Amino acid sequence: MCSWSQSTRKAQRWYQQARRYDQISMMDPRKPEVRDAADLGSVHVRAWQAAYRGGLMPDEYLESLSAEQRAEMWRTALGQPLGPRRARFVVEDALGTVIGFIVVGPEDGDEDTPAGELYAINVDPDHWGTGAGRLLHDAGVDALIGAGFDRAMLWVHPDNARARSFYESLGWRSDDVTRRAEVMGVEVPEVRYSISF
Ligand SMILES: CC(C)(COP(=O)(O)OP(=O)(O)OC[C@H]1O[C@@H](n2cnc3c(N)ncnc32)[C@H](O)[C@@H]1OP(=O)(O)O)[C@@H](O)C(=O)NCCC(=O)NCCS
Repeated sequence: MCSWSQSTRKAQRWYQQARRYDQISMMDPRKPEVRDAADLGSVHVRAWQAAYRGGLMPDEYLESLSAEQRAEMWRTALGQPLGPRRARFVVEDALGTVIGFIVVGPEDGDEDTPAGELYAINVDPDHWGTGAGRLLHDAGVDALIGAGFDRAMLWVHPDNARARSFYESLGWRSDDVTRRAEVMGVEVPEVRYSISF
């Protein structure tokens, strides 16, 4: 007999496979609410720990990330009105757990810019490759178009191969502009991608 966590893992594996073969559908992206903060904190930390190991971010920093602290940040953010021309979406798995999010808005937070920005997209690693990222991406892009942007950009770590191939498969292209940026207290290299609508 397997333990509860083994059963959960089995169910997750079944779910991932079923998603890959399109046997079950994922819910449409929806706007997040304050009650989603705990799930969002967990997704945020688990996605970063899986994506940025191996030298993209220091291991000690990744170990120190706290889902509760991230949840608190989300609780605060979700409790405040979203600025103009911005949007956030989440997707849930079949059990109603939030497994990914996207945040979009004007480039660099400047409301008058003609360009939108994809600020963040994260999917729980247990659900990578199931199409959740694409669903979120498409909801974010639709929101940017609806807000009147005719193009968009994003910044990604140059060694984040998975994210880069994800974006490229969705029509984004690197324009080879690079910078060093502080992301939640850590300085990282970034390369810019852009897309026209
Ligand atoms: C990047 C990320 C959001 C992608 O989400 P995902 O749910 O795995 O992506 P999807 O399953 O929707 O994949 C969409 C498409 O991307 C492409 N893709 C996904 N993973 C890929 C990989 N490892 N290699 C090549 N292409 C890939 C595929 O073409 C796929 O299209 P398909 O549905 O026709 O197969 C997710 O991996 C993630 O959260 N990563 C960690 C956080 C991160 O790096 N965020 C971006 C920071 S800038």
